[in-house]
Amino acid sequence: MSDLNIAVLGAGVVGLTTALELQKLYRNAHIDVIASCFESDTTSNVAAGLFRPGTSFCGPNEEITRRWISDAYRYWDYLRNTSEGALAGVTQVSGYIFSSKYPNIVRNHYIEKLVPVYRPATEKELKLCPGDWLYGSFFTTVLTSCEYYLPWAANKFLERGGKIQKHHVEDFASISLGYDILVNCTGLGAKHLCDDNKLVPIRGQVIKVQAPWIKTFFYGDYDTYIIPGINSVTLGGCRQYDSYEQSVNKYDSLNIKERCEALVPNLKSAKPIKELVGLRPHRDPVRVEKEVRHCNGKKIKIVHNYGHGGYGVTTAPGTAIYACELVRETLAGNSKL
Ligand SMILES: Cc1cc2nc3c(=O)[nH]c(=O)nc-3n(C[C@H](O)[C@H](O)[C@H](O)COP(=O)(O)OP(=O)(O)OC[C@H]3O[C@@H](n4cnc5c(N)ncnc54)[C@H](O)[C@@H]3O)c2cc1C
Ligand SMILES: *[C@@H]1O[C@H](CO)[C@@H](O)[C@H](O)[C@H]1NC(C)=O
Ligand SMILES: *[C@@H]1O[C@H](CO)[C@@H](O)[C@H](O)[C@H]1NC(C)=O
Repeated sequence: MSDLNIAVLGAGVVGLTTALELQKLYRNAHIDVIASCFESDTTSNVAAGLFRPGTSFCGPNEEITRRWISDAYRYWDYLRNTSEGALAGVTQVSGYIFSSKYPNIVRNHYIEKLVPVYRPATEKELKLCPGDWLYGSFFTTVLTSCEYYLPWAANKFLERGGKIQKHHVEDFASISLGYDILVNCTGLGAKHLCDDNKLVPIRGQVIKVQAPWIKTFFYGDYDTYIIPGINSVTLGGCRQYDSYEQSVNKYDSLNIKERCEALVPNLKSAKPIKELVGLRPHRDPVRVEKEVRHCNGKKIKIVHNYGHGGYGVTTAPGTAIYACELVRETLAGNSKL
């Protein structure tokens, strides 16, 4: 199989993780990652990176969704536990999710049995933060800081013989020449490339602050969260459906700051580092599918892997493993393009 040529489009957490999994599957293949943006210019870089799939996250069916999530957890937790874990920015964190409204918000059927600790908060714990918290959970999970993971994954990919090209792909027919298969991990970029109307941006804004005394994460109502990462603490957030606004909104900033300081008052002493905006590539369901397209009389084999919404860091390894299975099926299915 040494003459196998594969192109992975996209260099966010989904693209790079998929490229690494493909290298494991096809040790002698020529694999290129092609992307317009890298590292700090990706949506992945905005994420706090906490492993916590939303209860609304969904793949094609419950069984596959659960498989993605458990494969992903296994990938991150394995990496965390190796000497590479620190270089890849993977660590373990614990914290609380509180709600003053609904008991269901603090439960998570996807991870309750997956992570090492997931339990109801005690009466005392419900009083840790100001506010009338009626419901709460405490859990331990993994966190991946993409500030570390993306460069680590890119280096690993290059070390194993992969090639990286910076290039904006206007239409996929133009780059398909010479590749046996394209793997499409373009996140929200897929919307334009594919005219996929199911793909919607959910705008998020965060403030990264220096507050090294914060060691636990806290979630409150209205998308309020405080998540300690490796070099900074992420304060958020908001979820604005179908908004393409990529600049920082000062009203969102004030609102986030106020909500986070109400939850953890000592954040008033935190030093702001930067504010970031990201457009979560939301699609219901997330699209991990194979497709054969006919273009100018040529067959183009494609495996899609995009639309992870607010949970791409969490689930990337799970959908990457699944996408690799689809690549294998597609290539085994018939001859070359
Ligand atoms: C505020 C905020 C907080 C978040 N917090 C978390 C969290 O705690 N946990 C979690 O799991 N997730 C979180 N997320 C979600 C996470 O960031 C996304 O799900 C994830 O980054 C999606 O990864 P991706 O690789 O698909 O997309 P991206 O990181 O956007 O990468 C897309 C890649 O495709 C390339 N590309 C696109 N179009 C083209 C084209 N035409 N030609 C060439 N290249 C192209 C881009 O250049 C880029 O390299 C958060 C998101 C936001 C906005
Ligand atoms: C961590 O690694 C050690 C060996 O290095 C192994 O014994 C242990 O089971 C691992 N733990 C997890 C959770 O993977
Ligand atoms: C990637 O997926 C999007 C969404 O379906 C599509 O518009 C685009 O053409 C795809 N790109 C490639 C290279 O397959």
